[in-house]
Amino acid sequence: MKVTPTMNRLFSQVLAQAEQVKGFLAPNEGERLYRMASEACRLGPCLEIGSYCGKSALYLGRACKENSQVLFSIDHHRGSEEQQPGEEYFDIALFDARHYRIDTFPHFLRTLELADLEDSVIPIVATSTLVARSWATPLALVFIDGGHALETVQGDYDGWARHVMPGGYLLFHDIFSDPAQGGQAPYLVYQAAIASGRYHELPMTGALGVLQRK
Ligand SMILES: C[S@@+](CC[C@H](N)C(=O)[O-])C[C@H]1O[C@@H](n2cnc3c(N)ncnc32)[C@H](O)[C@@H]1O
Repeated sequence: MKVTPTMNRLFSQVLAQAEQVKGFLAPNEGERLYRMASEACRLGPCLEIGSYCGKSALYLGRACKENSQVLFSIDHHRGSEEQQPGEEYFDIALFDARHYRIDTFPHFLRTLELADLEDSVIPIVATSTLVARSWATPLALVFIDGGHALETVQGDYDGWARHVMPGGYLLFHDIFSDPAQGGQAPYLVYQAAIASGRYHELPMTGALGVLQRK
């Protein structure tokens, strides 16, 4: 895909907005999401698992908006295992003390409003495997960045990879070949996807793994 000066200008706006949003995505990974979604939007809609506060939705959603497509963004908004009280990635600003639970949904909605993406990003508040069971729309890009326990990543792969259309993209976040760098569940599922022979492996960006469906 040819990168035009207009695309670069639009992308720098996205980068500045993303800086203001809580999340775990590096700017170069966000840029790659934006570029892959810009490419994928020619084929159909995109979907992500793991909305959190909307950082990845900003990049993917902006590409969808510019191409008159939509991004479905799934999250139960109760936080992953590692984001619960007492765990490594717990953030008290995301804690709803009245109900004693994480609630990222208001933060996600605020991000969509500030970035003017309410007409292009469709929030789905549910467990990803529940949605996958009755999903029927072919997808041009699926980004898996939900729970990082093996059972959860495997469930996301089993539920969603089959909806990626030929030529479409399957992306995973937190791919670490070295256990010292991070948890191994996404990496194991990513390796199994490659071993299935159904995807071309494209170059990674940071910890973002990118596969293209054959
Ligand atoms: C690592 S965060 C996502 C980060 C986000 N993509 C970003 O760019 O900032 C993981 C999110 O997945 C959600 N999650 C975990 N397991 C889930 C599941 N089974 N179904 C839906 N959402 C889930 C959590 O609530 C959490 O908000």
